[in-house]
Amino acid sequence: MMNGVSTVDQKIKHKSIFNKCHQWEEAAQAREAGLYPFFKPIEHNIGTKVVIEGRELLMAGSNNYLGLALDPRVQEAAKTAIDEYGTSCSGSRFMNGTLVLHEALEYELADFVNKESALCFTTGYQTNLGAITAVAGRGDHIISDKYNHASIMDAIFLGTGLHRNIHLHRYKHNDLAELERILKRIPRNTPKLIITDGVFSMEGDIAKLPEIKALADKYNAGLYLDEAHAIGVIGKTGRGTTEYYGDSNLADLVMCTFSKSLGSIGGFIAGDEGIIDYIKHYARPLIFSASIPPANAAAARKSLEILKQEPERVHRLGQIADKMINGFRDLGFNIGTAETPIIPLVIGDTEKTFLFWKALFERGIYVNPVITPAVPPNRSMIRTSFMATHTDAELDMFLEIAEEEAKKLEII
Ligand SMILES: Cc1ncc(COP(=O)(O)O)c(C=O)c1O
Repeated sequence: MMNGVSTVDQKIKHKSIFNKCHQWEEAAQAREAGLYPFFKPIEHNIGTKVVIEGRELLMAGSNNYLGLALDPRVQEAAKTAIDEYGTSCSGSRFMNGTLVLHEALEYELADFVNKESALCFTTGYQTNLGAITAVAGRGDHIISDKYNHASIMDAIFLGTGLHRNIHLHRYKHNDLAELERILKRIPRNTPKLIITDGVFSMEGDIAKLPEIKALADKYNAGLYLDEAHAIGVIGKTGRGTTEYYGDSNLADLVMCTFSKSLGSIGGFIAGDEGIIDYIKHYARPLIFSASIPPANAAAARKSLEILKQEPERVHRLGQIADKMINGFRDLGFNIGTAETPIIPLVIGDTEKTFLFWKALFERGIYVNPVITPAVPPNRSMIRTSFMATHTDAELDMFLEIAEEEAKKLEII
């Protein structure tokens, strides 16, 4: 041992594969400047408030849109499932990891989104990875909105590796003319899949789904819809983008996570029975990873039940979205095309974004700064997101503090 560092540690440090790690300084520099916003441990979670570094902050950066992650009924359902099934399934869905509970949840989810069948995965990320790589094979074309979630892009990368030859096309965000130009170039009978988020996770705007569906039909393309931020959030009863547009048959495949409105973790894909059965047998993230734990499956199931019984939560969330969209816009913030409770405060300059984040943090507001690669360069933003459980007083306080701090930084 030399100065507490063993010679073995030192040798590892000199292996060239690790050079990039040792040379990387960005996070250290940000920490030193007091501008490092990530991985802040939460000491207590009290719904709209959290305790971090011993201070209570207003949470305006959570995806717990309906507040169900802290609902006592959801917590109780999770505890009961642990008593009944234990803490882990200790195996993949394919083998010993399928519970009666998973199948009951799948049945209810399929019914909720008006599809024949549904299949649960352990996370939303794995759902996209598994479903997309199962459906899109060698020689197939995927046409993806440029603002789609990273898990969709990762699925395409994984699929390209697995199948060698998937053709990827990315169209400008919500740009239907470009989507059509791409579709026109691909032979009609060549298999193709259009993928879009329903509600976009950073911009908080909604896909033009009826028009996308019309193009999908015209050019013989399948349509895959990621409803992570839409179910529980839009549509009169929280059924998401299809309900928002009044037609439950707008997408061939509907995907969603449990980690946002459904108070848990996990995800599902829903569609025609034959397609879901195929995904079940070809989705590697389903086959080679342990299944969603009983507590999480039960929590999602209870959240779904509450969502169906209490649509007023979705209604309240909509009111909050309107209030905050108008509030930020009236103050002069650039909120892009936001139309949901995800509202970006687009700043552009990354340093200013971190300074604004810090100012809000010090004034007792928790929000998420988002920089490239999560958003395009020069589109650094503060991503705000709201919950049905926020009170008007909390929201007014946030607007007041945001105005004061943004003016100091000349953001507005
Ligand atoms: C649009 C979208 N799809 C998929 C995912 C992945 O879901 P999960 O976090 O539940 O794995 C997310 C999560 O951030 C998301 O925003």
